[in-house]
Amino acid sequence: MDNIRVEGGVPLSGRVRISGAKNAALPILTAALLADGAHTFRNVPDLRDVHTMLRMLRRLGIDAEYERGVATVQARPVLEPVAPYDLVKQMRASVLVLGPLVARYGRASVSLPGGCAIGARPIDQHLRGLEAMGAAVRLEHGYVHVDVPSGRLRGADIYLDFPTVTGTENLLAAAALAEGRTTIGNAAREPEIEELAHVLNKMGASVDGAGTDTIVVEGREQLAPVDHAIIADRIEAGTYMVAAAATRGDVLLEGVQLEHLDAVVAKLREAGVTVEREGDGVRVAHQGRLRPVDATTAPHPGFPTDMQAQLMVLMCRADGQSQIRETVFENRFMHVPELNRMGANIAVDGRTATVRGVPRLGGAQVMATDLRASASLVIAGLVAEGVTEVLRVYHIDRGYERIEEKLAGLGAHIERVSGHA
Ligand code: EPZ
Repeated sequence: MDNIRVEGGVPLSGRVRISGAKNAALPILTAALLADGAHTFRNVPDLRDVHTMLRMLRRLGIDAEYERGVATVQARPVLEPVAPYDLVKQMRASVLVLGPLVARYGRASVSLPGGCAIGARPIDQHLRGLEAMGAAVRLEHGYVHVDVPSGRLRGADIYLDFPTVTGTENLLAAAALAEGRTTIGNAAREPEIEELAHVLNKMGASVDGAGTDTIVVEGREQLAPVDHAIIADRIEAGTYMVAAAATRGDVLLEGVQLEHLDAVVAKLREAGVTVEREGDGVRVAHQGRLRPVDATTAPHPGFPTDMQAQLMVLMCRADGQSQIRETVFENRFMHVPELNRMGANIAVDGRTATVRGVPRLGGAQVMATDLRASASLVIAGLVAEGVTEVLRVYHIDRGYERIEEKLAGLGAHIERVSGHA
């Protein structure tokens, strides 16, 4: 397993291009299951999770190729709509094939995702929505078996217990081919939901209200293949913004859509960081002292849980105390012990972390756990005195394209070393 070795103390400077959004690419790749023919997806990031999803499509009998940011998917009827454990266990988002398969074929079996590092993460909301549309759900031998006795899903009024992102995406895709109208109430409002709706509408679907908490879908008999370029990754962008600020650098991010990051930008500015549009990019700079800020994660448009660990590292350098509350996942503070080993002063009480700014962090060997925690440890290494080695960087490769190359391009002393572990 590879590790990342970084020597801290260099203020980042220069330009970095933000890649396509992982959490848009994953549901959009599964949308190809809704329509036979040649689909072309552009600006697709070269990530472990993307390749896992392409393997899932191939396992379902679909041709799926990836070449320099372009995924070409030749979709054809799926004979065995089964998402097997060996792939689902690698990536919880594999569950996104469920809605399209049930909508298209009236049946599907998907291995239950099981927990993951950041929490239990069941799919009860996905399943209840499909039942409302006429599906029958059976849990057996670690698989969820879904079939539609009438042969085709019918539109329904669904109201989610809370705005689950992939739950909304699964039900949106299912409704696109259901018979009649579906409304999804208390829907997730993330930009990736709007992007999926945009792709479905380009395929001939009728989706209204994506990006709000109520989505209305008129089901269609059939959809057509699509050619689409995917939006930029707002979480990757936010991560580089924090890295620029934490190292007291001055960085221009290219290709980012600032309107997708309102909550993150507001917190950075509250802390005293400069964030401003410059040309077709966004400039992030910080030289002075950092003000402590409090934050509570929430579904979009609230402060994203996927930026919680990154903000925490920034607050380790602030003048004072910050409270960071994690309300989305039940166990998303695993970066805290590792940061404290680097000299941070963070106390966790349930879902609240109290961060007290410290004058410096010290390099150490640290262990990556979940995707975003790993990125925050790399940022900590950029800031710390001495050398930090982040182990198990396969977590990072799931969601960050060529992170060490991009950071080295901004002046960081960073390299990937083949791990001994
Ligand atoms: C998506 O996961 C993202 N993944 C996550 O990003 C992100 O952290 C999360 O949304 C929240 O924004 C993708 O888009 C592929 P949820 P998802 O369903 O859909 C519980 C990353 O770093 N829940 O909104 O799985 C669940 O346990 C990843 O890129 C139920 O209880 O998140 C969690 O506590 C990490 N029942 C909470 O809701 C359900 O049926 C939020 O889950 C569904 C979810």
